[in-house]
This record gives sequence, structure tokens and C-alpha cells, in this order.
Amino acid sequence: MSFLQAIQPDKVPAHVAVIMDGNGRWAQARNLARAQGHLEGVKTVRRITEAACRIGVRYLTLYAFSTENWGRPQEEISSLMGLLVSCLQNEMPLFMQNGIRLRVIGNTGDFSPEVQQAMRQALDQTAANNRMDLVLALSYSSRWEITEAMKDLALRVKNGSLSPEAIDAGKINESLKTAFMPDPDLLIRTSGEHRISNFLLWQIAYSELFFSPVLWPDFTEEMFYEAIADFQGRERRFGRIADTTLNSEKA
Ligand code: IPE
Ligand code: IPE
Ligand code: MG
Repeated sequence: MSFLQAIQPDKVPAHVAVIMDGNGRWAQARNLARAQGHLEGVKTVRRITEAACRIGVRYLTLYAFSTENWGRPQEEISSLMGLLVSCLQNEMPLFMQNGIRLRVIGNTGDFSPEVQQAMRQALDQTAANNRMDLVLALSYSSRWEITEAMKDLALRVKNGSLSPEAIDAGKINESLKTAFMPDPDLLIRTSGEHRISNFLLWQIAYSELFFSPVLWPDFTEEMFYEAIADFQGRERRFGRIADTTLNSEKA
């Protein structure tokens, strides 16, 4: 039986976040330039976007470029930027056919005018789609996002529109770039690294984590479905105790 058949339709996670890692190692293992690995990685983005949409995931967030990735060689950054622009244009039929709304979280002002223009266009073109939001984290890091949120709250306190006592988790949520969506239910990282690398630190407080040893270009739909099925078999307690324990105590 395939993992797709094992998925329970009523328990599909609303929000899946993915740290797409391993493009460079995939290329290195084949004596190819790192850029080739990123190119291959785009195919996986397409596969996983379609797979998520197919099973009814409402939000798919992909970590595509971190604040720290600006520290990579200029050549690699340029090839990533070129890929991003061509991807936003070439994948438009996929977005429109599947009702996918594109969103971007990150410091978009860091990008060249050409890249910003391509993003703007893709965001506008898909704005009315409502089956799944594909959220690209671009020039994103969690500490940057939280710092921006703190500045925003401090300014509101300073201008008198917010009292310090009114600041709670809800107000902080509203100030984050992710305010439009729920926290990730499931976070997947590929390539065998067991770390978060500055991604959605606040939002993953109670996310289920799934680490795959497979490099991103080799990650298949079936592996994605396996992660979903694994998630569905877990018990999320959120600090409380299991429902079954409660019921047996009542009985
Ligand atoms: C992930 O693959 C893609 C980006 C960070 C842009 P990497 O480029 O980090 O690949 P590895 O980790 O070096 O193999
Ligand atoms: C995390 O991967 C960032 C993205 C996937 C965009 P990295 O490859 O940049 O992270 P580290 O350096 O392994 O922590
Ligand atoms: Mg990496």
C-alpha cells in the first residue's frame, strides 16, 4: 500500500513547513556545480507543491533562501536569483490550475528590483486563488522576523495605540509576517541535518518535527506522504495529558 492511501483525509495537517536542504550535496555527489542542484531542487518544489495540494494541505511554507544565505558566494546567489525569477514565471500555470495563492515572507527589500518585480507580479496574479497558499520564505530568518515584530510593537506603545500590559502571545502573532496563517502542524527537514537554521522559531513551539535523510532533489511525493502519514500517527498533547487517559479515568 502506498503512503498516499494510508493518509486519513480528515486529519491532513493544515500547515506544513519545509526546510528544503541538500541541493549542494546532491550536485557535489555528481561532480556538478551547486547551481545544478538548485535547478534539480526546483523540480522537487513542483512535485511537493502538487502533492500537498492534492491531499488538501491549506498552507505550504517553503524555506527557500535564508538571511544567512546572503553569505554564500556571489555566483551561487546570482544563480539562485535567476532560478527564482524563472520559477515564478514558469510555474504560473501550476499555480493557476491548482488554485494556489503565492505569498512571500521575508525581507523582500533585500532583493534586486528585477526580482522584486517578478515577485509582485506573481503575488498579484495569484491573489484570488484560495485552495492552497504557497508561502515562500525568502531572505527570511526567524530572528529578523521577531526583531521586526518587536520594533512594531515598541512603536505602537510609543505612539500610545498599545499599552505594554496588552502585549500577549496573540499580539506578537499578529505582528509576525506569518499572521495570516496558523502555526505549522508539521515541519519537515530534508538532507539529514537535525537543526532549525533560524526558521519559524516562534511558530514551531508545538509543531511535529520530521527529519528525512534524503537530499531535497531526491525527495519524492511518496516520501512527503510518508511524513504526513507519520504525523497522523502521532499524539499531540500540547502539554496536557492524553484524551484516552482522561476517558479511562472518568470510566
Ligand atoms: C538548500 O540546499 C537550498 C538553499 C539553502 C538555498 P543547500 O544549498 O543548502 O544544499 P547543501 O546543504 O549545501 O547540500
Ligand atoms: C537552511 O538551509 C536554509 C534554507 C533551506 C533556505 P542551510 O543549508 O542554509 O542551513 P545550514 O547552514 O545547514 O544550517
Ligand atoms: Mg544546506
